[in-house]
Amino acid sequence: MKHQKIIILDFGSQYTQLIARRLRELSVYSEILPYSTSLEEIEDQAPAGIILSGGPRSVSDSDAPRADPRLLELGIPVLGVCYGMQWMTYVLGGAVSRAPHREYGHVIIELDQTLSLFKKIPSEIRVWASHGDFVTAPPPGFTILATSENAPVAAMADVKRNLFSLLFHPEVAHTEYGSDILRNYVYDVCNCAGDWTMESFIEETSAKIRKQLNGAKVVCGLSGGVDSTVTALLLHRAVGDRLTCIFVDNGVLRLNEATQIKKRFIEKLQLPLVFEDSAELFLERLAGVIDPERKRKIIGATFIDVFEAKAAELGGFDFLAQGTLYPDVIESVSVVGPSAAIKSHHNVGGLPEQMRFKLVEPLRELFKDEVREVGRQLGLDEEFVERQPFPGPGLAVRILGEVKPERIELLRQADAIVTDEIKRHGWYKKLWQSFAVLLPIRTVGVMGDERTYDYTIAIRAVDSQDGMTADWARLPHELLGTISGRIINEVKGINRVVYDISSKPPSTIEWE
Ligand code: XMP
Repeated sequence: MKHQKIIILDFGSQYTQLIARRLRELSVYSEILPYSTSLEEIEDQAPAGIILSGGPRSVSDSDAPRADPRLLELGIPVLGVCYGMQWMTYVLGGAVSRAPHREYGHVIIELDQTLSLFKKIPSEIRVWASHGDFVTAPPPGFTILATSENAPVAAMADVKRNLFSLLFHPEVAHTEYGSDILRNYVYDVCNCAGDWTMESFIEETSAKIRKQLNGAKVVCGLSGGVDSTVTALLLHRAVGDRLTCIFVDNGVLRLNEATQIKKRFIEKLQLPLVFEDSAELFLERLAGVIDPERKRKIIGATFIDVFEAKAAELGGFDFLAQGTLYPDVIESVSVVGPSAAIKSHHNVGGLPEQMRFKLVEPLRELFKDEVREVGRQLGLDEEFVERQPFPGPGLAVRILGEVKPERIELLRQADAIVTDEIKRHGWYKKLWQSFAVLLPIRTVGVMGDERTYDYTIAIRAVDSQDGMTADWARLPHELLGTISGRIINEVKGINRVVYDISSKPPSTIEWE
């Protein structure tokens, strides 16, 4: 079945992905394409609507991103947002100028509710703006629909030509009624039916997988995280025991994690799992290694070695399943897409191209929150679905310096206490991540009558939307006190606990 689709042309805004997510929350399928996508390709996709994203540039710059202006003549409803509005104005003969006061943050606008785009929206709302340029005169044929104190045109439309524009960002949570404006756009302007649901996704994807595999066998590397688990569940639903999952114990898992994984996958989810305990090999290769990037590379490469050897030993696989998500796909296609560099080292679970398998990537179209929803529908328990992220290189990047068995043991115990108390005090779901880091420096302490000379544990707890930026969490002192007391009393070898109060940037979330 083909879903109705809204195409979002990306002019480089940090909020482009948010537009796509908001539309999908409204049960409308949306895809992000670079602004330079050809008119033919856009027409081929027969979108129900086109949204022009914001972007950091000024439309009058000689190298500003420009789309094919003929897309404004297709009769398909087009909604320009911020830069998208300025580009629309520029190509249709309106006037764009540098605003005397750059608008950034909350702005009050007054709007005309008679138009379907603003149906049931109050006449005065607070919106999120972020622009240096603004429209001083709309193009011929356009009516002004909203104004703000500083911007003479905060929204405009030419209903006859099906063209609409907003100077502010409806996709951002700070914009009051933002989702309602987008809902009006997709349902009243573009006449979408709302045919994108996770139930339909599961049905259609299962059929697609069956067709792609055509009777062949597939292998899937489980990392213990949500993405690879949901990938495996979808495949299992589609092709049953033609799926084999391989889990590699890399020796730097958290306390009891290996046992829990076996229990969850084999007993509860009844996924066909091959559990490969390779802890010794990983630790051997990590011995003496201090540099964080080398640790990551060694763990990534060793994972591939073990996985390949096991898959070859089991034999007969033509396909490899991967939990690639939509944000990874967009980052690789979008010309001016969001920060690709920061994440480059993250996909340790990602397998190399030189493997001779064909790829199955059933989550390629999904955002993380959609993956969680699919997981729920396929029987994953809430506790697992809502887990905080855990890095592929595991505890190895949370033990500063050399990774040694006795250090892993100390960190495992301390980390389990952090998680336990954070959960008990109701903070786990509120935080992006919370964990312990082992600092291999010794400090002096006193316990009973004895002098100690032991390691330090740092506690890291952060709030974040996507891991790209983060702030240290203002945990109650009581809670920090309880965690510290328990670690020092229960973990022999630790005599000091500190709390990390750095934000990202300039620090990172992980210490290595
Ligand atoms: P940083 O430390 O870069 O982390 O601020 C941002 C987010 O990414 C996770 N992270 C990783 N995940 N492999 C992964 O799979 C890695 O090598 C890796 N390094 C960091 C980190 O836990 C945080 O959520």
